[in-house]
Parts: sequence; C-alpha cells; structure tokens
Amino acid sequence: MTINIVAICGSVRPGNYTNMALELAVSELRSVPNVKVTTIQLAPLDLPLPGLPAKQPDAIAQFQLQVKEATGVLLASPEYHGGISSPMKLAIDNLGFPSMLAGKPVSILGVAAGTIGAVKSTEQLRAICAHVGAVPLPLAVSIAHVQQVFDESGRCTDPAAEKNIRRAATSLMDYINNAVCPKISLEAIMREQGDD
Ligand SMILES: Cc1cc2nc3c(=O)[nH]c(=O)nc-3n(C[C@H](O)[C@H](O)[C@H](O)COP(=O)(O)O)c2cc1C
Repeated sequence: MTINIVAICGSVRPGNYTNMALELAVSELRSVPNVKVTTIQLAPLDLPLPGLPAKQPDAIAQFQLQVKEATGVLLASPEYHGGISSPMKLAIDNLGFPSMLAGKPVSILGVAAGTIGAVKSTEQLRAICAHVGAVPLPLAVSIAHVQQVFDESGRCTDPAAEKNIRRAATSLMDYINNAVCPKISLEAIMREQGDD
C-alpha cells in the first residue's frame, strides 16, 4: 500500500527558510518505503481570495485532489506577525468547505526568526486544523532563530534542530502506521470478504 503525504510550504518568499525546514522533513519521509510525498509550493497556484474566481482553476482542482487523496499532510508555516502566513491561510481556505483536510492527520512545522520560535503560528495552525475537522498531531515542531539553523545553501547546521524537524515527519508516520493503516487494512479485508 502506498502512503501519500502532501507537504505544503507556507512561505512564498524567494529563498525562504520554511522550505528549507520542509525539505528536511520531506527527506525523512522519502526515506520510508512505500511513502510518496508531493510537495506543494503555493506561489504558482496563484490562489484566489475566498469568494473570487480562480485564475488557474485546473491547478487548484489538482491541489484539492492531492490533499483529498493524501493519507497525511505536513503543513509548514513561517511565523509572520504572531501568526501563520497569509499564503498558508489562503491555501487552507482554498481546500473547500467542508475542507479536504477533514479527517487527515496533520503534522505541523513552524519556523521563525525570533527567540520564541513559531509558538503562536503552530498553535494557530493547530486550532484551524482542528476547526476544519483535521487531526492535528500533538507534537508541533517550532524552530526559533531559523536563520542560524540553515546555511546559505539550505543545509541544516544545527543537529538539535535537525532532529526536531525530522520528528515532524516521524510523528506523522508513527500516527499513520499506528492509527490509520490498521483501519485501511481492515477495510480492505472486509471488502475482499464482500461485507461492505
Ligand atoms: C511579514 C513578516 C512578518 C514576520 N513576523 C515575524 C514574527 O512575528 N516573529 C518572528 O519571529 N519572525 C517574524 N518574521 C520573520 C520570519 O519568521 C522569517 O522571515 C523566517 O525566515 C521565516 O520566514 P520565511 O520562511 O519566509 O523565511 C516575519 C517576516 C515577515 C516577512
């Protein structure tokens, strides 16, 4: 069984640090057999403000489908003005009402330039995910002083931060393996037996 993970980068700034952290978590996910990861960058989608027509309806329909078919989701957001980034909120607002995130386990990763890290944005993201019916995992990873954690090439130079960022991936896989896969396997067995 292939496990599909969708990873969404909440920063659209060229050279942003959110994507550096996300790529590290994604590399951890890609090291797991049978896991397929789709990383989504938001700028090319040109997401519409809620209620306005999409400039790229096909791309947005595909984005929604990717999330709908995902086994789990990894959301990475920068801390902007004490909250999640507006692109991340817009991405969630473009995932439908009811949301394609409903029922999905969501791992939350936040990065910030400041000392307190991404505490406010990760908490905000957790509340939004819960509100739309997703299952935000108990562990949210917050990386402070992110400019000191990665070098200019995007390589992580802080082993403790690297361990934390990888935990955003491993906690998602642990949840999927322990809570989601048994249900999927059981449903498949029931279908084979014609009991559905
Ligand atoms: C609009 C804006 C608001 C920001 N607000 C905060 C903040 O409240 N706290 C903080 O620690 N860093 C703040 N930052 C700095 C970001 O956390 C920093 O740019 C970091 O690298 C993560 O963003 P990035 O992924 O876009 O690089 C802000 C940056 C921008 C562009």
